[in-house]
Amino acid sequence: MQYADTIEAARAMFAALPRPFGFIPTMGALHEGHLQLVRAARERCASAGVSIFVNPLQFGPQEDFAAYPRDIERDRTALSAAGANALFAPPASSMYPQGFSTTVDPGPIGTTFEGAVRPGHFRGVATVVTKLLHIAAPDVLFLGQKDAQQAVVLRRTIADLAIPVEVVVIPTVREADGLAMSSRNAYLDAAQRAVAPSLHRALEAMRDELLAGGSKTRARAAAESVLATSGAPEYFDAVDASTFEPVERLDRDALIVGAARFGATRLIDNVPVWVRGSR
Ligand code: PAF
Repeated sequence: MQYADTIEAARAMFAALPRPFGFIPTMGALHEGHLQLVRAARERCASAGVSIFVNPLQFGPQEDFAAYPRDIERDRTALSAAGANALFAPPASSMYPQGFSTTVDPGPIGTTFEGAVRPGHFRGVATVVTKLLHIAAPDVLFLGQKDAQQAVVLRRTIADLAIPVEVVVIPTVREADGLAMSSRNAYLDAAQRAVAPSLHRALEAMRDELLAGGSKTRARAAAESVLATSGAPEYFDAVDASTFEPVERLDRDALIVGAARFGATRLIDNVPVWVRGSR
């Protein structure tokens, strides 16, 4: 696997990859979910390139930027084994040098749900991904369904700014007990880890209640009763899968989305409902 840590070297490295080239932006602390994105890129494209960059712009001042898990050597080994061809891991000083000032604001779509709880988060995500896409210039961008709102926001940004890249979203990879894989699962202690799969079960309960014709209020209550004392619910809702606008009924491709706290750790997850059978 080739490696670059400057923008100039990364441009040359990515430009030389066999086309079509699939790109996977990450913040490292890689797990099976990330590696599935790499494998998907290898299957669908002629090469796979990855970035690892813990993006300070997408963390709030009280968030876990400093504590975010970092282990570049372990990540490099895992990426090579998964078949990645190239890795770009820049220092913050090259992505955001002195005087850096331009940001990409995705607008209202980035201000609900995760964007409401984490003001400025999606501006940070859209800015860094736009910059990474300009550097890597891939044919296909691979994203995980786990961060569903991020995928919807980035599709919007890419369409609005006419960035010539196809977006492919890969289903969430879960642990055997249903917990969605996430780098932040590492923050959970044993007792929290044991109850964290209740978030996924709560989302399934909400989906089942809505599919049975129940109101959103009832469906939300069903979700919260599954979570019961295991975690503190933040939001549970049903949204249109393409716009992230709340929906009352599952009469179109939708996502049941939720966030909950287990101790100090905030986890998000979602369950898709593809009613059009289009995916
Ligand atoms: O999903 C992530 O890990 C990050 O939000 C991303 C897309 C790499 C941007 O920093």
